[in-house]
Parts: sequence; structure tokens; C-alpha cells
Amino acid sequence: MVFAAGTGFGILFWGGFHAVVEATNTQGFCTSCHEMDQVFEEYQQSMHYKNAAGVRAICSDCHVPRPWWPKMVRKAQATNELYHTLVGSIDTPQEFEEKRLQLAERVWAQMRATDSRECRNCHAFEYMDFHKQDRRSAKKMKKVVDKNTGETCIECHKGVAHKLPEGYDDEDD
Ligand code: HEC
Ligand code: HEC
Ligand code: HEC
Ligand code: HEC
Repeated sequence: MVFAAGTGFGILFWGGFHAVVEATNTQGFCTSCHEMDQVFEEYQQSMHYKNAAGVRAICSDCHVPRPWWPKMVRKAQATNELYHTLVGSIDTPQEFEEKRLQLAERVWAQMRATDSRECRNCHAFEYMDFHKQDRRSAKKMKKVVDKNTGETCIECHKGVAHKLPEGYDDEDD
């Protein structure tokens, strides 16, 4: 009996937990906080929001890992975001601009560490038709593949959804 009750509780807990995790992956959830900054507006100007094919990426596609364990780690880190919201460390556009480079650098470091895993959920060199790309794209990216240079997407593609932070200098990389 105790066992059955425990299992029932476990299943309830598990189901509820998943519902929460999924709800926190929606765009509305992210923008409920991230509308005090400009990231949402800028994203709406980008190809990842709107394009000829109508296939797009939302916040969580780029920022929340799909594999279970890294996803839980990211959710736990998000508790830090909650803390900063509660204590009001970023309330105004100016405060955001001041901290922006630091936040971007955190994202770049994560993407370098995972070899741009989230980008690769949608994009893959293997399926790029280099003949159909702009010459500049094909030349650069064919070289990455042919010479196996080990360079990862984010090293060459910063600012694909938002404006680059003030003070960013691409000589730094
Ligand atoms: C409760 C409010 C809140 C919600 C909801 C929220 N964020 Fe944040 N987010 C913040 C704050 C505040 C910061 C700045 C944290 C700091 O100062 O360290 C931040 C920082 C970030 C950063 C900068 C890099 C980093 O790791 O700190 C990214 C990327 C980000 N959020 C993406 C998202 C995405 C994607 C979602 C939805 C899945 C989301 N956020 C939901 C408040 C929130
Ligand atoms: C959920 C799927 C998805 C994810 C995740 C994604 N993309 Fe995209 N990306 C797209 C689509 C769709 C387009 C538009 C393709 C078109 O219309 O030609 C695009 C376009 C692009 C372009 C060309 C347009 C531009 O803005 O310059 C680049 C570069 C690019 N993506 C890089 C990235 C990088 C880097 C990441 C990871 C940070 C990433 N993408 C994550 C789906 C995705
Ligand atoms: C060595 C640098 C380099 C790396 C690494 C790289 N790219 Fe690119 N890519 C470029 C350049 C340069 C262009 C030309 C347009 C531009 O400047 O953004 C381009 C163009 C693109 C385009 C637009 C293609 C077109 O012509 O329509 C997409 C999509 C793209 N890259 C995605 C990716 C993804 C995803 C990765 C990782 C799997 C990646 N790139 C890795 C340099 C790179
Ligand atoms: C196509 C992938 C992609 C999508 C979609 C995307 N981001 Fe980002 N985001 C990035 C990258 C890459 C960075 C690192 C800075 C840069 O290169 O622009 C970043 C940086 C950030 C930062 C740190 C501050 C900054 O501007 O650098 C925040 C906050 C953020 N994103 C929130 C969001 C929210 C909220 C959404 C949805 C409204 C979203 N992102 C959609 C790729 C994406």
C-alpha cells in the first residue's frame, strides 16, 4: 500500500515536473522576463524569426539543450536568472546594455564548449548544398569541412538572432 501510494505520487510528480519543464520552453515564458531588454525585438528582425520557408527557431531551440541532463543543468542555472530578476539586477535598458557583453560571452562559451550543439539540431554541414549558397558562404564553409579545421558555428556566426553587444570586438577571438 505504501509502495503503491509512493509510486502514484512519483508518477504525479514526474508528470507535473515534465509539464513545468515543457511550459518553460515556450517563447512566451522567456519573453515574460526578456521584454525589458531588446533581445526579443531584435530576434523578430532576424531570419530565425521569419523567412521564405516559414521554418524558424524560438528562444529555447538555441538556448535550451535537448538532451535530458544538460537541459536540467540549464534549468537549474535559470534559477540564477530568477534570482537576478527578483533582486532586480537588470531593470532598465541601460542596466541591460552594461551587462550585455558579459551575458553574450557566457552564451558563446557554452556554445563553444558543446561544439554549437543547439545550432546543429537544425543545421548540418553534410546537408548544405554548397552550390546553392552564396560564394562567400560556400568558400568558407567548404574549407571547414574539407580541411577539418575544427572551427564551430558560433566562432563565425555571432549575432544570428540579436544585435552584437556594444564593446564587442571580433579581434578578441
Ligand atoms: C524570471 C525571469 C526570466 C525568465 C522567465 C527567463 N529569463 Fe533569461 N535571464 C533573466 C535575467 C534576469 C538574466 C540575467 C542574469 C544575470 O544577470 O546573471 C537572464 C539571462 C539570460 C541569458 C544570458 C546568458 C546566461 O546564461 O545568463 C540567456 C541566453 C537567457 N537569459 C535566455 C532565456 C531563455 C531562452 C528563457 C526561456 C527558456 C529565459 N531566459 C527565461 C531573466 C529571465
Ligand atoms: C530550430 C532550427 C534552427 C536552429 C536551432 C538554428 N537555426 Fe540557423 N536557421 C534556421 C532557419 C530555418 C534559417 C533560415 C534558412 C533560410 O531561410 O534560408 C536559418 C538561417 C541561418 C543563417 C543564415 C541567415 C543569417 O541569419 O545569417 C545562419 C548563419 C544560421 N542560421 C546560423 C545558426 C547558428 C549559428 C545557430 C546556433 C546559434 C542556429 N543557426 C540555430 C534554423 C535554425
Ligand atoms: C570558418 C567560419 C565559418 C564556420 C565555422 C561556419 N560558417 Fe557558416 N558561413 C560563414 C560565412 C563567412 C558565411 C557567409 C555569410 C556570412 O558572412 O554570414 C556563412 C554562411 C552561412 C549560412 C548561410 C548560407 C547561404 O549562403 O545561404 C548558414 C545557414 C551558415 N553559414 C550556417 C553555419 C552553421 C550552422 C555552422 C556550424 C555547423 C557554420 N555555418 C559554420 C562562415 C562559417
Ligand atoms: C538562432 C539562435 C537564437 C535564437 C532563436 C535566440 N537566441 Fe538569444 N542568443 C543567441 C546567441 C548566439 C547569443 C550570443 C550573443 C550573440 O551572438 O548575439 C544569444 C544571446 C542572448 C542573450 C544574452 C544577451 C545578448 O544579447 O547577447 C539573451 C538574454 C538571449 N540571447 C535571449 C534570447 C531570447 C529571450 C530569445 C527569444 C526571444 C532568443 N535569445 C532567441 C542565439 C539565439
